[in-house]
Amino acid sequence: MREKQVLVTGACGEIGQALVQELSKKGGYKIVTSDLYPPPDSIKSLVAEHVAGDLVYKVKTFYDYDFDIIFHLAASLSSKAEVATEEAHRINVEGTMQLLMLAAYRSEKYKKEVKFLFPSSIAAYGVPSIEAKKQAGAVKETEWNTPHTMYGCNKLYCEKLGLYYSKYFGQKHLDENPPAMLDFRAIRFPGLISAFTLPSGGTSDYGPEMLHAAAQGKPYSCFVRADTKISFMAMPDAIKSLLTLMDVPREKLSYTVYNIAAFALTAEEFRERALDAFPGAQITYDINPRRQGIVDSWPEDVDDALARVEWDWKPDYDADHFFDDYFLPEILKRYGKSR
Ligand code: SER
Repeated sequence: MREKQVLVTGACGEIGQALVQELSKKGGYKIVTSDLYPPPDSIKSLVAEHVAGDLVYKVKTFYDYDFDIIFHLAASLSSKAEVATEEAHRINVEGTMQLLMLAAYRSEKYKKEVKFLFPSSIAAYGVPSIEAKKQAGAVKETEWNTPHTMYGCNKLYCEKLGLYYSKYFGQKHLDENPPAMLDFRAIRFPGLISAFTLPSGGTSDYGPEMLHAAAQGKPYSCFVRADTKISFMAMPDAIKSLLTLMDVPREKLSYTVYNIAAFALTAEEFRERALDAFPGAQITYDINPRRQGIVDSWPEDVDDALARVEWDWKPDYDADHFFDDYFLPEILKRYGKSR
């Protein structure tokens, strides 16, 4: 059987590395990657080809490839995007637009479906106050689509662009027999935590940073208040969600954008769990008002009922399983500390 050709952009990032490893384990894929940087050792031997450089200028390289699936992960995350807004817009919106155009062009020209998987984010939401956040609880996909950040605006708009290119581009939906098209699918991810890599430039970063610091016996100063609560997820669940959504038959899906959830914790709950696992850990608070403002605008949890119903989504790791069965065993191996 022919291998499926897959493109993973932002492959050197956290999701990228974990996804490439999992795709390679699954087998049957020719994996092409792109990133600003050369591939790290964790994925180097798994990729057939890597294109290094700025995606916005490199997209034209990909017009010669016959991709079946595109995972467009490259992005400037929320904290970084807030200090370099124009650059973030260029990377997050222009990069996505270029790739969507490429996928639409290829699917039309070769009359074949190209799947386009897009990681959106809880940053697509924006609640106006702490009171509203508490009241909103676990939000549905259609609620509070009023992001407070450049990154959130970019993600929300790109969700719309994806829907446009997959459904309405060329107004093909008005044809009696609309041709094979780009098949766009997006997941709004909570904060992700890997035992192997650390995020950079995000605002949910305090979760993983605190845990990795505690495991290494390094002091950590948390940049949000103790009562700050948002939704988090173990990296293996994030990868599972992408690979599951990739394989769901289109007719089962009535939407293009889905929430997924695993566990919602406050910063203090993270701290307590870190102290429990690493009793000497030194974790203090030093609030960064801008970053605090960003997480305060994100919902404390998301309602993932749609994903559960339509594609049988279910995380493997709730908070207990995340700590006991994934993070702690892996991190202890990594940093070689015993509790
Ligand atoms: N983890 C991301 C960030 O903090 C949210 O999608 O920017």
